[in-house]
Amino acid sequence: MATPDQFEIAHLGAVELFTPTFDESLHFFRDLLAMREVARIGDSSYLRCWDEYQLYTIKLTASETNGVGRTLFRASSEEALQNRVAAIEAAGLGRGWREPEVGIGRSYEFEDPDGHTMAIYYDTERYVPDDQDRPALKNQASKFPGYGVNARRIDHINYLASDVDAAGEFWRDVMRSRESERVRLDNGSMAAWWFRFHQKSYDVVYSDDWSKQRGRFHHLAFSPDTREDILKAADIFLENGVYIEYGPYKHAINQTFFLYVWEPGGNRIEFANAGARLLADPDWPVVEWSQAERARGQAWGMKTVATFHTHGTPFVENQEEIDRQALEGKH
Ligand SMILES: [Fe+2]
Repeated sequence: MATPDQFEIAHLGAVELFTPTFDESLHFFRDLLAMREVARIGDSSYLRCWDEYQLYTIKLTASETNGVGRTLFRASSEEALQNRVAAIEAAGLGRGWREPEVGIGRSYEFEDPDGHTMAIYYDTERYVPDDQDRPALKNQASKFPGYGVNARRIDHINYLASDVDAAGEFWRDVMRSRESERVRLDNGSMAAWWFRFHQKSYDVVYSDDWSKQRGRFHHLAFSPDTREDILKAADIFLENGVYIEYGPYKHAINQTFFLYVWEPGGNRIEFANAGARLLADPDWPVVEWSQAERARGQAWGMKTVATFHTHGTPFVENQEEIDRQALEGKH
């Protein structure tokens, strides 16, 4: 039975992405996804989706490598924040409190068992639109852009992990988020594990990293309004020379309609829409898929593209060659 501490994380807050091609990546997020730049500090641009109530959605940072930086999670209340911080400290994964910064108040930084940097906070800055960005209706965060992909909001983050079991146990037992689905290999370990904070079927996901390096990243997902928007997004990426890796298609696991592309910096970005599907049952029993069931492919039968299991960021040595060989069936 679900317990109150399983509702102490409100949602995924914001994510920092590293890119070795800052200008091209900025063009991808700002001009193709229709995100708005709200701050530029040092080597970082803070960009927001049009229906986020908070100040920003991603922090795009120029770097020598690609990959994921710090992920922010908003707690449901100040008390919830203190509870989760105590649990993280007891698990030995805390790094300590940070002073307020762009968009958020005081936060507590920690790492997951795989070394991904994260922080949890409660106090936040609500976005206040200016004249140019003011929506017609007051129950909307900002003006509908009406161009490009019109990414509405962040949806979920999928990390790679050298040890999916350890990462999943952390999210289940320390962060107290609820499992929705998982893939168990024949040897008993998890190949992938999906967690949710509320009724959306997943917010945080871990997938096995074949390279067994720690702290790598699989993808970040944005949600447009509809499945039709995802088809149109594929056309926009085609016209603009963005590499389409997989889709549009429908996942078997959690049933999201998806499109995967590699933004110019090499990070995998997903556009996902779960349609009307919500998990209303607070005690939803976790759905477990076997290795053989996963091998059957996606919802309508198409096999998973080979690079889905090889491509991650930051790149490992010879990443591009490894991906190319995977597409040729050599891995
Ligand atoms: Fe995803």
